[in-house]
Amino acid sequence: MSLTSFPGGVRPAPHDASIPKVTMPALAEMKRQGRPISALTAYDYATSRLVDEAGIDLILVGDSLAMVVLGHDNTLAVTVDEMLHHTRAVRRAVRRALVVADMPFGSYHGTVAEGLANAVRFVKEAGAEAVKIEGPRVELVRALTEAEIPVIGHLGLTPQSIHRMGGYRVQARTTETVKQLQADAQALADAGAGALVLEGIPREVAAAITAELPIPTIGIGAGPECDGQILVFHDLLGLTFAPAAKFVRRYADLGGLMRSAVEHYREDVEHRAFPSDEESYHLPEAARGALGPGRTIQKTRALRKA
Ligand code: KIV
Repeated sequence: MSLTSFPGGVRPAPHDASIPKVTMPALAEMKRQGRPISALTAYDYATSRLVDEAGIDLILVGDSLAMVVLGHDNTLAVTVDEMLHHTRAVRRAVRRALVVADMPFGSYHGTVAEGLANAVRFVKEAGAEAVKIEGPRVELVRALTEAEIPVIGHLGLTPQSIHRMGGYRVQARTTETVKQLQADAQALADAGAGALVLEGIPREVAAAITAELPIPTIGIGAGPECDGQILVFHDLLGLTFAPAAKFVRRYADLGGLMRSAVEHYREDVEHRAFPSDEESYHLPEAARGALGPGRTIQKTRALRKA
């Protein structure tokens, strides 16, 4: 047992009460006002709640969970059912941020109708407020928009294309590929995408696309000129087991903190220093006789404090 809600259901106020709930139109308004959008991935109740209470605008239940939570080598293996399971947990935790579900590999790569049906599941069964899809899938973006499902595009280094790209490589480094990326970004915006994640592209390219597009860009490894920034929760907090990418800024070493806390707990158990008498329940005096004379002698010290 562990408690997940505050007694009486009281929640601390989000840090910026001036935007009570972040919506897709609110992100567009932030771009218009030149206010940077903060975004972060999260995959479970506790961390999403912390992220939400810290005032992050957009929480992406990213398919990166395949790697950082489930331990796969890339993002391809995670299923729709697994993504739904995590999106539901995040949904239960979040009050203010926009909750976006990442559509996993294979869930929108067939027909538009299949992609639409899977996207509906994220909204209907898991409470997502938008979905994110990788690549220039203009027809699908149009269909989702017509079906009232806000959609965020994702261009540049698209991790679900790892095999086509031959690894995780910075994209759009030639005149031709830059032009293609600009055209794809414009086409997604024209089709109704509400925002666009730009990943692993030169800063200059992201800056140009951000200036050209009417919708917000959210960068990851795409430089500071994007309208917003997103990172993977585990990268930000040092909960990964490989060297971080160049674009990651590690704001804490939670991995180190967690390891040392768990070691401390193990040592306390091994030295019988945990639990203490104060951390134990005690038998009421009237019931002490039930243990018999032999047992009460062993417990005398504890019972005296009860
Ligand atoms: O799955 C993911 O984490 C993403 C990012 C944009 C961070 O797609």
